Amino acid sequence: MEKQTNNRGQWASNIGFLMAAVGSAVGLGNIWGFPYKMGANGGFAFLVVYMVLVAFAGIAIMLGELALGRKTGLGVIGAYQTLYKKFAWVGWLGFLSGFLILSFYSVLGGYTLRYAFGFIMEIFSEGAGFGGMGSGEFFGAFTSSGGTSMLFHGIFMAITVLIVMGGIESGIEKFTKVAMPALLIMLVVVIIRSLTLEGASTGVAFMFAPNWEAFSEIGFMRVLKTAAGQMFFSLSLGMGCMITYGSYLSKQENLEKNAIIVPVVDSIFALMAGLAVMPAVGAFMSQGVEGISFGAGPGLLFVTLHQVFSVGMGGVIGNLFGFVFYFLVFIAAVTSAISLLEVCTAYFVDKQVSQGKGSGRKKLTVIVGAMIFVVGIPVCLDGLGAGVAGGAMIDSPAVMFGMAEVRMAFDCWLDFYDMIAEGVFMPLGAIMMSILIGWVLGTDVIKEEVEATPNLLMKSYKFWDICFKFIVPIAITFVLIGQIDDFFGLRIF
Ligand code: TRP
Repeated sequence: MEKQTNNRGQWASNIGFLMAAVGSAVGLGNIWGFPYKMGANGGFAFLVVYMVLVAFAGIAIMLGELALGRKTGLGVIGAYQTLYKKFAWVGWLGFLSGFLILSFYSVLGGYTLRYAFGFIMEIFSEGAGFGGMGSGEFFGAFTSSGGTSMLFHGIFMAITVLIVMGGIESGIEKFTKVAMPALLIMLVVVIIRSLTLEGASTGVAFMFAPNWEAFSEIGFMRVLKTAAGQMFFSLSLGMGCMITYGSYLSKQENLEKNAIIVPVVDSIFALMAGLAVMPAVGAFMSQGVEGISFGAGPGLLFVTLHQVFSVGMGGVIGNLFGFVFYFLVFIAAVTSAISLLEVCTAYFVDKQVSQGKGSGRKKLTVIVGAMIFVVGIPVCLDGLGAGVAGGAMIDSPAVMFGMAEVRMAFDCWLDFYDMIAEGVFMPLGAIMMSILIGWVLGTDVIKEEVEATPNLLMKSYKFWDICFKFIVPIAITFVLIGQIDDFFGLRIF
């Protein structure tokens, strides 16, 4: 048994674990999703809903995942198999979610690399980075030229694989311990620049001004669903990422404390990302620079912000900040991607180890990474839904499956994968986990694991018990209904 733990690997320190877990949580979800979702869904009012969800559902699920992981000492599939045979399929849902999410996450990670690279090249020679195109034009050309997307998707995946190959302590922990402080510093630099631009307050107001009317205009259930979906994705919950990371934690570490720190720090990073992005957008929008607005939604990260740096700031300074910004997003994306890959790799490593063999981690990581790369290829080729008619190499799933008129989520491969994983598998996984803890095994299972740490008593047992039994399953049922509602265009909410 002892030997087994050693073969799988373990975090060398609690701070190392925290860097890795926060690294997993802080990613594109924080920098891309959070600022515009908050701005568009009531600003400060959205933040209140979000924080309530974090407090009553996010932290509990985080604790549940970490505890189940450490208790079983196995990745998500092994953990469910050991805890309750009938729920083994929940482990597989998690595995598949990780696989699908990483296959498009890596394509987007590749985009951030392409942009960081582009801004560096622009410093040396104008036009070398983005071919002298405007931001919208460049994005269209880049996304529909499947080859370049694939190249950067490949590079991003290769970097992720290299880190995960190194194992828990000398791969993931070592990398995140350097990457996360670097990320923080770069973020602060960008925030200072952004907030000191003329007109920055427009952006701050867009993001933070409390708009309680949003609840009646957009509908409270929709706001709740958006906030809950965002929370799951941002905290890396619902697919066993934290089960996997928890399985490498030593019994010495305080689970209850860790389960609070990670969501709190993640939320701080989300707000900081908003302060880096929105004031700059607001500043140049109010100065009347063309092509810059808050409304850009998903296009925000690549079209609007490209314009902010290249035209708004402009010159060498613009290129320099452009590079720093996209590089920081790239770092945030890599530290998240490694956690997704680790979920998949851990299953095979556990299998090897349980058969008494060596972990085989290096080889297994390469194989799994290559498979994920291949599954991500359609995401590179459909020009984000532009399809063959729009100059891309392949069509969207909607067109391919002859469902063009039917489903929003089939509009491009990225949304299609996202819908399956984030929309269905993850909420379902989280509901099943809370049922397993609250109703099948009993919340005692969490208490026992927390108290496996010498001289530690669980502080808020009653609170967690209510969370697992009622709050979490009910809250996530709303998310699931909301997703299915969107999926089929039913407009229940
Ligand atoms: N949390 C990351 C982000 O905000 C993405 C991520 C990493 C993730 N691991 C995950 C999302 C597991 C869901 C599940 O970008």
